[in-house]
Amino acid sequence: MKNLTILAIESSCDETAAAVYNSKEGLTSSIIYSQLEIHKDFGGVIPEVASRSHLEKINIIVTQALEVAHKKLTDIDVLAITSKPGLPGSLLVGLCFGKAIAWAKNIKLIGVNHLEGHIFSAFIENKVEFPFLCLTASGGHTALYLVTNFGEYVLLGQTTDDAAGEAFDKCAKLLGLSYPGGPIIEALAQENNFKDVCDFPRGKQQQSLDFSFSGIKTAVLYNLVDRNLMTVKDKSANQVDINIKKDIASSLLVCVGDIFEKKLSLAFKKFPDIKSITFVGGVACNKYLKERLKVWSEKRNLKYFTPSAQYCTDNAAMIAFVGHYKAQQDKFDSFDLDIF
Ligand code: KG4
Ligand code: ZN
Repeated sequence: MKNLTILAIESSCDETAAAVYNSKEGLTSSIIYSQLEIHKDFGGVIPEVASRSHLEKINIIVTQALEVAHKKLTDIDVLAITSKPGLPGSLLVGLCFGKAIAWAKNIKLIGVNHLEGHIFSAFIENKVEFPFLCLTASGGHTALYLVTNFGEYVLLGQTTDDAAGEAFDKCAKLLGLSYPGGPIIEALAQENNFKDVCDFPRGKQQQSLDFSFSGIKTAVLYNLVDRNLMTVKDKSANQVDINIKKDIASSLLVCVGDIFEKKLSLAFKKFPDIKSITFVGGVACNKYLKERLKVWSEKRNLKYFTPSAQYCTDNAAMIAFVGHYKAQQDKFDSFDLDIF
């Protein structure tokens, strides 16, 4: 293995992040600036606002990542940059910034797929045994992968409509709760002891590895309409009683937990030789879901890995990790690298 130092940049959505990874030392810095406060009042990420914020922060964050790692640009062998998928304006900020540095300093370039970053995010803190099933659940994506080696994975199923995190965010909005909905739903559900009161639909695609979450959002909407708390035309309900909020939140979480287990069970039947399960992405911050999948995995003698919260949500450490193994495999990109 060559001794390489990677500088990674991530700007695909609403986090401006940079990280440094070295073959011998591992991860030496991971700096994240979250735009959450900027987008909170809008109930979601506003793309134009996001790219402007990336522009303001990117130089500061990259400089900080180098400083914390005690590295200079002259120590960097490879620049790994998230090139897709994501918000075009946001991706372009990271990509153009990284390309400019790579050009000026004659550093090699690697474009990293953001989802490949999430798939390998559990490796930042663990040695995960191949082959494994990876459940990625975030605000933008929900997908199940079979992962056989570094950079080798196949998509087994994905959401056909909303992502799991998006379902939490949209249901929270219906209940008049703030953005992002996931953590608030979790807190309310905990107060209700994770009781399933409402029995929301678990989806029609029982035998498929694809996911569907838009039905849950509609079920929550009609639950509130039936209680005369809103009409189907309203964006969110008025003055929902705290106990109703708790009932809906806990039922929602149990429902998503059931769907995750069901899909993992189906995939495990198809691929009984897997050694491990990984649960990654922003939704994997959820302690209840983490614990359920841990119990599910242990019952089947599978090793279970989930990153700590700072590597579940968007970060550049996972981009650096992928950039590092791609660099070891000599998979570099030219300056034609684009965001599509
Ligand atoms: O990975 P991430 O930071 O950004 C995307 O790439 O989308 O994920 C953000 C998503 C949001 O939808 C948020 O509601 C959800 O992750 N999330 C959670 C929790 N923390 C964040 N969902 C459930 N429980 C949580 N504790
Ligand atoms: Zn992400």
